[in-house]
Amino acid sequence: KEEKLKRISESIRAFPDFPTKGILFRDICPILKDPKSLAAVIDLFEEYVRQNHQDVGMIVGLDARGFLFGPLLAQRLGIGFALVRKRGKLPGPTVSVAYDLEYGKAEAEIQEDAVAPGQKVVLIDDLLATGGTLNAACELMKKQQAHVLGCLVVVEMKDLNGADKLKPHTVFSLVQY
Ligand code: PRP
Repeated sequence: KEEKLKRISESIRAFPDFPTKGILFRDICPILKDPKSLAAVIDLFEEYVRQNHQDVGMIVGLDARGFLFGPLLAQRLGIGFALVRKRGKLPGPTVSVAYDLEYGKAEAEIQEDAVAPGQKVVLIDDLLATGGTLNAACELMKKQQAHVLGCLVVVEMKDLNGADKLKPHTVFSLVQY
């Protein structure tokens, strides 16, 4: 496990002043370039979900980098995957929630039939900063009467206290800064 975490953290790069001045952007792209690192991410998420959220029925991934890890995890667990997207990208009837981002404003949207009422879901994204994005996804789940068992992220920016914002929902992160 320590070896997997080491490999993952070595595959995360930092870019200062992106996308705007003052933001240190943590880039997970090198994880995807390294199959062992990507497998390590999914291994650790799978282990955590099997131990803590046995009754999960659906993985819900956040636009855009939640889509890179979510379907792989869902396949491992033998369950489905649903997308929370930025507004205007999904066809058919949708439900949306507005939220503030670390750098700007956005709206999260889901197809009305993406999750069923009463369904137990685990949310996944690449990174937790202020928690605005995951919190919006939690609100969408509430609107759809789905139960959020917990949130998974590869990277957690501890200083921004995103985990507090998500309470009482729990956050499991692999790498913390
Ligand atoms: C980043 C990141 C998370 C979100 C976290 O996405 O991938 O989704 O910000 O920030 P928060 O915790 O403060 O809400 P971004 O908004 O850059 O959009 P993208 O995935 O479309 O690039």
